[in-house]
Parts: sequence; structure tokens; C-alpha cells
Amino acid sequence: MKKLSKDLVDLQNYLRQQGWLKPHEQIASVAVPGEGNMNFTLRIDTGQETFIIKQSRDYVEKYPQVAAPQERVLREAEFYELIKTEPLLNRMMPTIIGLDKANSVMAMEDLGTGSDYTYLYKKGNTIDEQELFDIITFVATLHRSFDSNSVASPLQNRKMRALNHEHIFLYPYLSNNGLDLDQILPGLKKIGTSFSKDAVLKSKVEQLGKDYLADGNTLLHGDYFPGSWLKTANGIKIIDPEFCFFGFPEFEMGVTIAHLKMADQPQKLIDNALVHYQTLAKLDNDLCAKFTAIEIIRRLLGLAQLPLEINLTKRRELLEISRECLLRNP
Ligand SMILES: Nc1ncnc2c1ncn2[C@@H]1O[C@H](COP(=O)(O)OP(=O)(O)OP(=O)(O)O)[C@@H](O)[C@H]1O
Ligand SMILES: [Mg+2]
Repeated sequence: MKKLSKDLVDLQNYLRQQGWLKPHEQIASVAVPGEGNMNFTLRIDTGQETFIIKQSRDYVEKYPQVAAPQERVLREAEFYELIKTEPLLNRMMPTIIGLDKANSVMAMEDLGTGSDYTYLYKKGNTIDEQELFDIITFVATLHRSFDSNSVASPLQNRKMRALNHEHIFLYPYLSNNGLDLDQILPGLKKIGTSFSKDAVLKSKVEQLGKDYLADGNTLLHGDYFPGSWLKTANGIKIIDPEFCFFGFPEFEMGVTIAHLKMADQPQKLIDNALVHYQTLAKLDNDLCAKFTAIEIIRRLLGLAQLPLEINLTKRRELLEISRECLLRNP
């Protein structure tokens, strides 16, 4: 596999070979388009146009010692290919310019230098209700537009699912996972220990982990949180479906709700978002709440930490509500 770098000459030759530059077009500059951990992502500027390239490698870009499925960008490209037929989804996602399968590189439309929605984690920021509804409309439309029985080869993305499964359902509950929670926030370690010692809780989590790994009928984005939502001059755009698969919509909505809670958004707004979803698509509220709990625990006690500003008391409260929810029957 050719490993791309920021070397302009090398990059220019590569892009020309792929036909992603016009014959006499040159690279004027390159830049990192935004925060990202998993992949090698660059904005290419030729002076006449800009576009984005994304390469997935057999490791996590930010943590090279952590292995990751090398061809994950090809799964992402398959998602973009599938949703092309649905105008609302297509309009809200970048257009794919090209795909180099041999080297796991995708070239796509530049959506501009707008920001993602991770600013919501900062104190005092509340999402505009109409923007949240647009974000929910996208995902509800996605969930009701595809059926695994009617597509030629339903996306399984097993390797990415296995990676996610480890980080969501296993790692946060290991007593010696190497993560020092007190370094994230003093006092968090003690709370974490009470979770890793809770055998009944862990058996509930294990069952939900199996549900996550099971194939479902519904096409999911797979990583539907504020980092995948962009605010651009042309409205809200959705990116980064590298964890996509056919599964259960409750997992996806559960994750979304969890992030709104961790970003301390008003409960009324969250309730309205759920109601809005259910005017468009079906959802099992209990199962959704359980996946919300799972996502809260993994983000507060696991490796994939967020730039949160909620204090220890609030984190403890969210964690204990999540524990109770998971222990509750059904
Ligand atoms: N098509 C695009 N247009 C404009 N900006 C983009 C585009 N694709 C990605 N970006 C920017 O680059 C950042 C990283 O992209 P992306 O999230 O796809 O990478 P990633 O490596 O999968 O990130 P993560 O580790 O968060 O999963 C995005 O947050 C966004 O700011
Ligand atoms: Mg990603």
C-alpha cells in the first residue's frame, strides 16, 4: 500500500495518476481539514478548486500503535454509493470524486471550512431546534430508506463493528484496562471501579453487545454524534460513515441521545428530537434508552473521551442513571 504524505511533489504525482487533478493543475497548498483521529485526511487546494482526500491505514492515525481495519474507507465509500439514490441523503453528504481501492484512498467534495457540532460539549452552547430536527430527519430518512433484504450485498463492515464492540462493550468494564480515569477528572476512577466490579451490569452489557454485533435490516451511519455533523454555508452536512452497517436503529438513536445528554442539552429539546424521529420512523424506546446508557458509560469511562465540560457530579449522575436503566427489566 502506498502511504500518502504531505509531500507536495509526491502527492501531486499520485493525484495525477488517479486522474483527480486536471493535466496541468498543480497543488497550491494542503491542509488538515479538521479534527480527526482515525484516518489520514487532507484538503487539497489547487488554486482553482479544493477537495478532500481520506486514506485509511491498518492503524489509527492518532495512535499508530492501535491496529484498525485497513480497508475501512472502502466501506465508507460503499455507504455513499448506496445512499446516492435517496435525494435528501445525497444532498446532505459530500459527493465522491474517486476511489483508489488498492491504496484505500477516497477523494470527495470539499464541504467548506465550517465547523462540526462538537462545540456543543462546551458550556452554555445549545443546538438550535431546527438544526437538530434536520440532523434527526437525515437519520430517520436513512433508517427507513434501505432494507437489507432489498440491497444486493448488505454492508456488514464486520471488522469495524468488532473494533467498536471492543471499545463500547468490553474496554470500559475491564478493571485493568490501562486508562487512568483520575487523570481525566479526579474522582472518576472510583466511579469507574464500581462499574467494572458490577457483574450483573456486565451481563446486561454483554447481551446488548451481542445485539450490536447481530445483523439487522436497517442501514445505520454507525457513528452518529456531533463530530459527524457539519455546519456549513449550505446547511447541515453529514460525514464519516466508516462504522456503517445493517443493524438496529435503536443503537444509532441511542448514541445520538447520549451525546445530547453529555453535551448538557435541555431535556425538552432531547424529548422533541425523539418525538420528531418517531413521526418519521419506528423506534423501540426502551432499547434506545439502553443504548443511550451504553454510550454514556463508554464515553465517560472508556478510551474515546470527548472534550466534555460537565463536572464530576453531573458525570456521576449520568452514569448512575445509565446503570439503573441497564439493570431495569426488560
Ligand atoms: N468532505 C469534507 N469537507 C469538508 N471537511 C471535511 C470533509 N471530510 C472531512 N472533513 C473535515 O475533516 C475532519 C476529519 O474527517 P473525518 O471525520 O471523516 O475523519 P476521521 O479520521 O474518520 O475522524 P474520526 O477519527 O473523528 O472518526 C472532519 O471533522 C471535518 O472537519
Ligand atoms: Mg471517523
